[in-house]
Amino acid sequence: MSTSLVYGSYILAGLLFILALAGLSKHETSKRGNVLGCIGMGVALLVTVLATLIGYRVGGFTVGGLPAWGVAAVLLPMAAGAGIGIVRALRVEMTGMPELIALFHSFVGLAAVLVGWVSFIEEGHADKLHFGELFVGVFIGAVTFTGSIIAYLKLSAKMKSAPLALPHHNLINLAALVAFVALTVVFVLKHEGPVGWIMLSIMTVIALALGLHLVAAIGGGDMPVVVSMLNSYSGWAAAAAGFTLGNDLLIITGALVGSSGAYLSYIMCKAMNRSFISVIMGGFGSDGAVVGEAKDYGEHREITAPEVAELLKHASSVIITPGYGMAVAQAQTAVAELTTKLHREHGVKVRFGIHPVAGRLPGHMNVLLAEAKVPYDIVLEMDEINDDFADTDVVLVIGANDTVNPAALDDPHSPIAGMPVLHVWEAGQVIIFKRSMATGYAGVQNPLFFKENSAMLFGDAKQRVEDIIRAL
Ligand code: TAP
Repeated sequence: MSTSLVYGSYILAGLLFILALAGLSKHETSKRGNVLGCIGMGVALLVTVLATLIGYRVGGFTVGGLPAWGVAAVLLPMAAGAGIGIVRALRVEMTGMPELIALFHSFVGLAAVLVGWVSFIEEGHADKLHFGELFVGVFIGAVTFTGSIIAYLKLSAKMKSAPLALPHHNLINLAALVAFVALTVVFVLKHEGPVGWIMLSIMTVIALALGLHLVAAIGGGDMPVVVSMLNSYSGWAAAAAGFTLGNDLLIITGALVGSSGAYLSYIMCKAMNRSFISVIMGGFGSDGAVVGEAKDYGEHREITAPEVAELLKHASSVIITPGYGMAVAQAQTAVAELTTKLHREHGVKVRFGIHPVAGRLPGHMNVLLAEAKVPYDIVLEMDEINDDFADTDVVLVIGANDTVNPAALDDPHSPIAGMPVLHVWEAGQVIIFKRSMATGYAGVQNPLFFKENSAMLFGDAKQRVEDIIRAL
């Protein structure tokens, strides 16, 4: 292969990734963005694999190129990995996406650690800068690896989402960072012989432990920031691996993922009124908060589907605030049908209010509603709709809990204190669709359920919405 073909393809892939990110920033163009990203990744993979297998010409020399066994050693694991990836992606439920993504991030971290270690073992005579890059790459990769595994365990409920509060946890993190800086300096100055091995081994163990501790210390309500933060780390880990391998495309791609993930984390923190630093330094929400406390909130009221249908028929404006429960129940198509019916047959103005961290993924609700073909212009962000609840007759809270919890505003001791929420209680009547009085993801009780203008419609959200459609 010629060098210009390889580098030309890298530039093409890099441009396609940038166009993909631009496309993904708006509902209307997100599908196109996704397709462009897939094409970019296809080009990147094809060219990288071909250049590695058959080699490419630089200044009269051939770089790369593998014997037959080497080709098999690259293609067989790739085919196995692709096979497993395709099966997992086909099988995953929308509700299982966050933990799958966390698991994928852990692979990027592990790959960066392996690339760094192999490069250290193979390249005894590279310059100091290279060894610095390698050391940083292994550090970021190891933190991403274990941090993502803990995120996976927490998101899939295989581990309690409550924050781990070790004494002096901030000091522990700080000590790990100081040790990393000191080890880097020693490693860059002296990486030959046993000293290099010892420095790299100690740092890898510290980074693995730091990843575990950082994410274990973050409480349930703050997990959205962790997911996007690990997304960003995985990008930086890939970029670091790109420097180690001298692969420009990996550097570009890693930097795009790293910086867009960092920006997403910033948006998430703003949406949740959290300071980024305090979230990543562990357990902002946990300080002094009582999770799942046994406080007496009074009695809740129940309502039936036909009664809700009656209320809706006579309403002039309705807002639906979906949450994670709509995803679990796969109720989005029924909700879309209810919306159309209310609008067309009963002349009711129906809109959706979307909290930035509703569900378990950034944009989770938007994806579900788009899949059910709900028009974009009636799907509004929290900030766009929060002032309208007071003029709304009925609010349907479909499987949302933490994102509509007034304790975030009223109770300074709540683990979700300070997080902006949808002001649903300001509406005339609030109907809450859920299966029980259980708490939401953050594990805190919701005083909304006990307010005078609230009523609980118990049961699976999809079945209850279908009951309402029948009654209408
Ligand atoms: P949650 O607070 O998680 O509450 C979901 C509610 O849905 C639960 O109260 C549950 O009650 C109900 N539910 C579950 N299955 C249902 C079904 N089949 N039918 C009806 N109801 C059902 O939801 P939310 O308001 O969307 O808040 C999201 C939470 O997740 C926040 O704490 C957020 O910080 C966190 N989080 C978000 C993300 C992102 S990026 N969005 C990532 C990680 C964590 P029952 O069990 O009683 O039915």
